[in-house]
Amino acid sequence: MDKILVTGGLGFIGSHTVVELQEAGYEVVIIDDLSNSSENVLDGINAITGKMPAFEKIDLKEKADVEAFFKKHSDVKGVIHFAASKAVGESVNEPLMYYENNIGTLVYLLKELKKLSEASFIFSSSCTVYGQADELPITENAPVKEAESPYGNTKQIGEEIIRDTCKVVPTLKAIALRYFNPVGSHESAEIGELPIGVPQNLVPFITQTAAGIREQLSVFGDDYPTPDGTCIRDYIHVVDLAKAHLVALERLLQNKNAANYETFNLGTGKGSSVLEVVQSFERVSNEKLNYKIVDRREGDVISAYADTAKAKEQLGWETKLDLDDAMRSAWKWEQKVRGV
Ligand code: UD1
Repeated sequence: MDKILVTGGLGFIGSHTVVELQEAGYEVVIIDDLSNSSENVLDGINAITGKMPAFEKIDLKEKADVEAFFKKHSDVKGVIHFAASKAVGESVNEPLMYYENNIGTLVYLLKELKKLSEASFIFSSSCTVYGQADELPITENAPVKEAESPYGNTKQIGEEIIRDTCKVVPTLKAIALRYFNPVGSHESAEIGELPIGVPQNLVPFITQTAAGIREQLSVFGDDYPTPDGTCIRDYIHVVDLAKAHLVALERLLQNKNAANYETFNLGTGKGSSVLEVVQSFERVSNEKLNYKIVDRREGDVISAYADTAKAKEQLGWETKLDLDDAMRSAWKWEQKVRGV
């Protein structure tokens, strides 16, 4: 079976994708710098799949290390590239760090892939490239809006770098996957989301509040032009998301792609408000969540959810799990981690 490199493979989405790859029989090599992850995740992957993936602690900013890796693993057939920084607020304060971490490393990787006889590349992009879209649901043809943050800009620029490279490197094929809001965890609770410090994202904040680590969830604004006044997002179960990576990779490995560079939205197609997420959590956990409405958070778009037709038609992929499944698994994981 083909050898696949997963950068950032010990992170939240990366680890779930490694599970899917191993269960499909691929030989996985993980690169991770452990800046926002832990080696213990390997044990979780092993517990689920019965196989310990190969792991090399490499910082992709170290160009010589990346070169050495590809000399050793010149038989890599595909790369799924998760390794990146992803905190929106931090990117505003540290733009150069974000451009170096997310763009510099991407260039190093692509330079190595250019040397291979054939390479399939999957890039983690984000629905953030659409900003507040003019039409909902959001199709892949919606215009890319000016980025709200350096983080968002790295996803836009990253896509452009890959697109331009694919135009002139015929041996390189790539797909950018634009994730909506990934949540939940593997049903085994062996792996999950492990934010360092105070979570910035809604679902880990909810589960940590219920576990008693945070006092109260702040709901950022209830005066938006939506049915209940809170923002609407498309929350996609991380296991569905991970499976989409496998399907996208196989599209490239089996030459089923329509062009050398393609983009796909990955979402459920269903929008949920912040209060609906809270209600889902309360329903599946039987816990009452302590929350209060506060001011809007700067930079939040009102509503974003995916048009899923392209992924369904061309990848033959659609989500199987819903918001309740995601909240149930997120809570099971939080309880395990905290010993609640
Ligand atoms: C955020 C980023 C997005 C990034 C994604 C990665 C911003 C503005 N956007 O998406 O660029 O790709 O994370 O995971 O940061 N909420 C609360 N209280 C909280 C936390 C969140 O009410 O304590 C609300 C938010 O206002 C939003 C929804 O929950 O309406 C989801 O927020 P979040 O999980 O941070 O995701 P996004 O903002 O959609």
